[in-house]
Amino acid sequence: MYHLIFATNNQNKVAEIQSLVGSDFNIQSLKQAGIDIDIPEPHDTLQENAFEKAITIFKITNQNCFSEDTGLEIEALNGSPGVKSARYAGEGRDFQANIDKVLLNLSGKQDRTAQFRTVICLLWNDAHDKLQTHYFVGICKGKIATEMQGEKGFGYDPIFIPDGANKSFAQMSMEEKNTYSHRQKAVTQLFEFLRNLT
Ligand code: IMP
Repeated sequence: MYHLIFATNNQNKVAEIQSLVGSDFNIQSLKQAGIDIDIPEPHDTLQENAFEKAITIFKITNQNCFSEDTGLEIEALNGSPGVKSARYAGEGRDFQANIDKVLLNLSGKQDRTAQFRTVICLLWNDAHDKLQTHYFVGICKGKIATEMQGEKGFGYDPIFIPDGANKSFAQMSMEEKNTYSHRQKAVTQLFEFLRNLT
């Protein structure tokens, strides 16, 4: 079995990814790996933040690991909140405050087109014990609802309606969300890559 640490403190993300992984992979969250740190996200791009999170954990554990950074990119807001999605309404990382700010900034705007973009960074030691880095990107296109719908999920889920659906992510089971999700698309590529490596 292939062991990998997922460098996140977000249990929702761990659950989503675990539900996608076959039994040939053992994914450990930071909590399961016994690591208790607030991972930095100081950069202006999802890719740099994903690398920063992965390298932070790799330096601590010296074990193969991956991380991901996700942003909600809204067309009419010039791609905001983007890489700042977690802290859009302030350092409190408050889901409700972030949603309120998006809805306020979009009020009166016709174009509600948006996308979630996930960047995964994988770090692993190759057969020659050389550290390798690889990135995987997943995009889910959709639109921002005019009001919150549903209670499931996390973050911006209650206001995001993926293309091809007529309900928000927060009205879907995890399995249904995974059929559309940005994270699922990036993770699928990650596991395909790992299967070819092993
Ligand atoms: P981060 O990748 O943990 O930095 O997430 C950035 C922000 O996007 C956080 O506020 C998350 O709640 C939000 N976010 C990330 N993934 C999703 C998702 O699948 N649905 C809704 N919000 C998300």
